[in-house]
Amino acid sequence: MNRLRTLWITLWLAVSYARADDEGFLGELLFKDVNLSLHRNQSCASCHSLQPSMGPGTDRLLSAPGFVDPDNVHLGTPVSNGSVEGRNGVLNAPGLAYAAFSPAFHWSAEDETYVGGQFWNGRSADLQSQATQPFLNPSEMAMPSLWAVVTRIKDTPAYEPLFESVFGIRLRDIPGNELAPASLTPPPEVVDVFKAAAQAISEFERSPEFHKFNSKFDFWLAGRVQMTPNEVRGMTLFNSSSKANCAACHPTLPGRDLQGRLTPPLLTDFTYDNIGLPRNNRIPGRPDPDPGLAGRAEILQGPDGDGQWGKHKVMTLRNIALTPPYGHNGVLKSLEQVVHFYNTRDILGRVESDLDAGFGVMGWPLPEIPRGINEEELGDLQLTLDEESDIVAFLKTLTDDYPESGEDPSIPPGTPSPFADYTPPVIPVQLAISGPDQLTVTGHLGRNYLLESAESPTPTPAWSTIARFRLSRSEQTVDLHGVPRSSVRFFRVVEAP
Ligand code: HEC
Ligand code: HEC
Repeated sequence: MNRLRTLWITLWLAVSYARADDEGFLGELLFKDVNLSLHRNQSCASCHSLQPSMGPGTDRLLSAPGFVDPDNVHLGTPVSNGSVEGRNGVLNAPGLAYAAFSPAFHWSAEDETYVGGQFWNGRSADLQSQATQPFLNPSEMAMPSLWAVVTRIKDTPAYEPLFESVFGIRLRDIPGNELAPASLTPPPEVVDVFKAAAQAISEFERSPEFHKFNSKFDFWLAGRVQMTPNEVRGMTLFNSSSKANCAACHPTLPGRDLQGRLTPPLLTDFTYDNIGLPRNNRIPGRPDPDPGLAGRAEILQGPDGDGQWGKHKVMTLRNIALTPPYGHNGVLKSLEQVVHFYNTRDILGRVESDLDAGFGVMGWPLPEIPRGINEEELGDLQLTLDEESDIVAFLKTLTDDYPESGEDPSIPPGTPSPFADYTPPVIPVQLAISGPDQLTVTGHLGRNYLLESAESPTPTPAWSTIARFRLSRSEQTVDLHGVPRSSVRFFRVVEAP
């Protein structure tokens, strides 16, 4: 009996281990699948490349990917083409490294600012909801509906066993409709497949290749390498509250994620600011300037709505040397130009536009969204040109894969990251009361959970299991009819061992 039990547990562990890996693998396949775009010519990886980067202005292969559109890096173009010829987005694709560390979008009453989320304006709360967007964006992958996306997923036999093992979904049983328009409401099981696919992509984006923590800066933090004198001066300026003050928004100290765990420095606090970028007149179609957070109606009605004009998310500066051009509209071409802009925005003089030959040399154009610009922390930093280049030297220490690209005998290729154990926050499990005898569970699709109850929470509650289920819906309800009642009862949901 006991042996049988042990065997069963061992088997279960083996299965669940394989499953955890499978989800990231499935996500990677979906991330690279061009069939999931209208003309079968574009995947997530088209704009967020997984290939090793060639550093701008060098022929040396820096092995970390920038997770941006390689065309933009090499041609200096600010935006990406979509699946449909002649359609393009209006914003610069950010690198996806470390994006998984962004907390869910929320208003911080303490700091009086919005924090977290995905996109330049945080409109997706988290990676799972973000990953549902590009498929249907007419300027990106341009699919007519989520049902059409699911049908393309069904068309690829390799997905069948993975959806089955990761989510318990049998793709064969899901109805297909390749041409379904967005106006047609799909059956709920089709929506489940779409959400499961997005979650798998988000798991891939949480995998270690998106957060290597193996830049020169990381090895320096761990006391394993020395920085050059320029890099040290640059870092000191970067951190100094009386000089460049970059760390006020791009922190170089360890942080804590929303689950309270320590993280190595992420070089962003995931807040929002209007740094006064000028308009980029090279974006095809010359779209109106992007209003940032204020472009979201619910934000304008929320706390300090009028203060949100032109505010865009502080992006991480990890791997920043690999991802030109810079800013939400890609108007700044190089790190040198970015630092010169922060230093001289308010004092260099005026040029008409970014098309002016004197752009960034003779002066800067007016900001594209003049309301709410940060005038306290940037714009006139009083840095010398040498100090500017020191800061750039420091920024270049933030590129991952230093062991592979640093040619540093003390950190040979293959040296593990000093912070290899740090992982991004996982998908939270939440329990809500949704009716007199009903609870709703949201969490990680495909995982097994136990719903437990206890009569008292202290000192050591005696939890007993009242339901065991595999989460197959993005919101799963659990019926409490028949659960024995007492005056007070506490519930919790835990992942099944
Ligand atoms: C045509 C180019 C293009 C394609 C294809 C594309 N993206 Fe993006 N991605 C962008 C742009 C541009 C932005 C910024 C848009 C914005 O902020 O409104 C972005 C933003 C993001 C972000 C937010 C990062 C952050 O730090 O805020 C994530 C995550 C992301 N994309 C993942 C994906 C995934 C997953 C796919 C495939 C399902 C995908 N992208 C397909 C161009 C693209
Ligand atoms: C008050 C907060 C704040 C301070 C201080 C600050 N930044 Fe930023 N940084 C931002 C925001 C917000 C963005 C995105 C702005 C946008 O695109 O509209 C940004 C973007 C950047 C980018 C481009 C990121 C990308 O993915 O394109 C770089 C590079 C950068 N900052 C470097 C610096 C340096 C160097 C300093 C110090 C000289 C500095 N920042 C100081 C808030 C700040």
